[in-house]
Amino acid sequence: MKTIDFDIIDSTNTYIKNNYQSLDNMTFVSAKNQTNGRGRNQRIWKSEDGRNLLFSLLLSKQKYIEQYKAISILSAYTVLEVLEDYGINASIKWPNDVYVNDSKICGILLEAVTKETVECLIVGIGINVNQKVFEGEYLHRPTSLSIELNKDIGLDEFKLKVYTMLENNLNELINGKDFYEAVKKADYLRDKEVYAVIDNLKRRIRVIGINEDYSLKIEYDNITRDIESGEITFHL
Ligand code: BTN
Repeated sequence: MKTIDFDIIDSTNTYIKNNYQSLDNMTFVSAKNQTNGRGRNQRIWKSEDGRNLLFSLLLSKQKYIEQYKAISILSAYTVLEVLEDYGINASIKWPNDVYVNDSKICGILLEAVTKETVECLIVGIGINVNQKVFEGEYLHRPTSLSIELNKDIGLDEFKLKVYTMLENNLNELINGKDFYEAVKKADYLRDKEVYAVIDNLKRRIRVIGINEDYSLKIEYDNITRDIESGEITFHL
């Protein structure tokens, strides 16, 4: 594991995107603050300076790239495991958000740099740790560890736990460990009826649950369909 820590940067994902050729596989890049933190679907990721864990992980070895379908959900599962260590019960909102009760505590942005083939994967993770007030508009109601626990927690210790656990789980994944049963147990959307946009249409759907290949089985208008992340946005 290699680590790089910034006080401030545009985005840790963007930093890796611009520098992956000179960085080692399994380099973790963190920042206390981002001026252009990016979320999924072109959204911005806001975070109070110095209060949360913002980092990106570079995966450039082929054996990790091959596992791209499992990597974002396994990253979410890893965050959930660390939260459990802190006494917080969390679940995974497919494809890769981490929820505590009905609020979002962590978001993940998985990006691939592609030339002729995929050159690397960048796993960008934002976890709300010690932020207590979230001003402005949020699509999904946010929460943080300090809100859930009613106290601040040591950010450096938390960061090290997340890094260590993530490296371990990813190595177990490429060595053949199957995390499906564990992920399935933590499925937040399973059996829920929700609004979602699919094929540019807002629909009421029923989520059946996460499939073994980490796609999502849903049902609407009497049809059952397996969808990949990117094909759907949820409006809970
Ligand atoms: C989402 O839920 O929309 C994903 C949010 C991902 C945010 C993290 S913070 C660290 C890394 N750098 C970024 O610019 N984005 C990710």
